[in-house]
Amino acid sequence: MSAWHRCVLALFTLVPAIAGADENTAQAPESLREVYQGAFRVGVAAGTSLLADEADQALVKTHFNAFTLENELKWDHIHPEEGHYNFGPADALVDFARANGMEVTGHTLVWNQQTPDWVFRDEQGNLASSDVVLARLRDHIHTVMTHFKGRVKGWDVVNEALGDTAAEKLRDSPWLRTIGDDYVLRAFRLAHEADPDVELYYNDYNLEDTVKRTHAVRLIKRLKAEGLRIDGVGLQGHYQLPTVNTGAVASTIQTFAALGLRVNISELDLSVYGMLDRSNRFENGLPDALLQLQADTYAALFHTFLAHQDAIDRVTFWGVNDGSSWLNNFPVEKRPDYPLLFDSANRPKPAFDAVIAAGSAER
Ligand code: XIL
Repeated sequence: MSAWHRCVLALFTLVPAIAGADENTAQAPESLREVYQGAFRVGVAAGTSLLADEADQALVKTHFNAFTLENELKWDHIHPEEGHYNFGPADALVDFARANGMEVTGHTLVWNQQTPDWVFRDEQGNLASSDVVLARLRDHIHTVMTHFKGRVKGWDVVNEALGDTAAEKLRDSPWLRTIGDDYVLRAFRLAHEADPDVELYYNDYNLEDTVKRTHAVRLIKRLKAEGLRIDGVGLQGHYQLPTVNTGAVASTIQTFAALGLRVNISELDLSVYGMLDRSNRFENGLPDALLQLQADTYAALFHTFLAHQDAIDRVTFWGVNDGSSWLNNFPVEKRPDYPLLFDSANRPKPAFDAVIAAGSAER
């Protein structure tokens, strides 16, 4: 090829690239992580399917700087059988997150759900002794935390241990029935021994409820009285459009901050259904009025988070878009819900614009 040909060819390859770059800059959507820079990180939860979906990956890279594995670190995924750990899927997601500047949350070490039954059984199939279950817990916590040491910012050491009623301080669970009511303390002690450098969190839903909040405060004080380390609390933030109360969210953040804890909003979404509503009224999409109400409510929530930014490290959405939200199967299976900022085709909803506007107004 002559020098002239090479030159013409170079021009043809360069010109569209330059034009494309200009277009991209002009049309770049505002990014959540940029708008909230300096206040708190904005995170997202996703799973293995993200790694096969380029559109979702592009969205995640644009908007988020924190990442939670939706299922891949849970006991049933990572430690399905005694003596057998399955790190592959979690490693791939942690690598993806870190390569794209996202801080990783380890979710979760101890939970009453998604934990295989063998953990609590002896060879006869009876409930195993406290010593046996504790030894398994120690092995799990040490192995998993050591494997991810240096790659994870903090762990949800215990998830959803508290009861929902005044009478039930700790939820009835195989952990409680085998180890006893100090199992949460044991887990935090083991986690600190496994990695003294990583943050340790307690994570739960509905902590805005005064009864449950009281249980949480009692638990945290007990941990501290035992000399155990806890760095933060995760308010899951699974809110419902008809009932969410930003005043209660604010006082909950204040309560935990006053105990010297960092606060993460760890699993944010805003269902369009009330908790007890089992109807399927929005099969074909949401009416504009509800999209707008959701946008206004998200704005109020983010104003509340911003007002408490000194206490909050991270606000993480539970899912990339409405299509992949767990709420499409909870509490009613195969019922579409619309709880996030992007629709199922990754188009920004009015709620996205409202959250961007809330953040921009405070810059
Ligand atoms: C959910 C996941 O999103 C689903 O994919 C899975 O089938 C069940 O668990 N509280 C939690 C999360 O702490 O781990 C849950 O995640 C949602 C409720």
